[in-house]
Amino acid sequence: MAASAPGKLILFGEHAVVFGEPALSTAINLRAEVYARPHPEWRADGGSIDEPRYRYVKAAVAKVKTSGPLWLEIRSMVPSGAGLGSSAAVTVATLGTLHGIGGSIDAKTIAREGFEVEHEVQGRASPIDTSTASAGGGLLVLPKPQDGLLWTIERDARRWCLHRTDLPSLDFVIGNSGISAATGPLVANVKERVDRSREAAGAVREIGRITLDGLDALRRNDLVEAGHLMDRNHALLTQLGVGHPMLDRLADAARKTSYGAKLTGAGGGGSIVALSDRPQETVEAIRAAGGKAFVVRSDPTGVATL
Ligand code: MEV
Repeated sequence: MAASAPGKLILFGEHAVVFGEPALSTAINLRAEVYARPHPEWRADGGSIDEPRYRYVKAAVAKVKTSGPLWLEIRSMVPSGAGLGSSAAVTVATLGTLHGIGGSIDAKTIAREGFEVEHEVQGRASPIDTSTASAGGGLLVLPKPQDGLLWTIERDARRWCLHRTDLPSLDFVIGNSGISAATGPLVANVKERVDRSREAAGAVREIGRITLDGLDALRRNDLVEAGHLMDRNHALLTQLGVGHPMLDRLADAARKTSYGAKLTGAGGGGSIVALSDRPQETVEAIRAAGGKAFVVRSDPTGVATL
């Protein structure tokens, strides 16, 4: 048995979504695959499943009853520590494989379990990464349900309503700084700032408004406006303390040939995303500025058995 799940790209709203503000994401065409065979004891890539790098896999295994231990093989095209949802993709693909053995995979169940895994391993989080990996395609997270509702996830008085949203087919240029930063502490630091500073709380709310305006702009195909909003979203994330000089450098380099650019994911390192209709030129500009660059597209397929 095997299953796969996609990585994700957050176009607007990371960090603010943890506080219940709107966010917009899409699954991308880089996937994680998890293969399983019965074995006398639990193994991950031939080694111990207790190794720290398999903590998401191990927490996912604890969620699903299997008839016996398995040898799991994990293959991922999603670069880790790059803000592209590699842990969520591996978590969701693992859950897909384990449920697939039982005979049925249900994206909503897997999204809920995936969020629990992320919360257990990483601490405070929103369900955006795990739900995008489960559902595939474009996802709009809102505090209240609207047309297109896929599922709702609640935790500690916060509620996230995950909606299907159609995004125009676009190329996104990723600029990976090569600096990896752990998501858990970044999310915790933002919470601390928001609790003690009115400006930070205001920045979180402004990011929520930018997400809705950004979605409108993308739907109207107004890429100039969408790009401006990305630039503003980047500045607000930097104000919240999750920027990095290398991310500014890559975003500045990308902006010369694109509509706009912002950090994507948890920040502190990781990647930027640029909206460009000259993707190859943007790729080259990012490389010249010292980043790793590649182009990704939206992937409509969520968790799926292979
Ligand atoms: C990380 O990909 C996105 C964050 O908003 C954290 C989360 O939503 O769990 C930074």
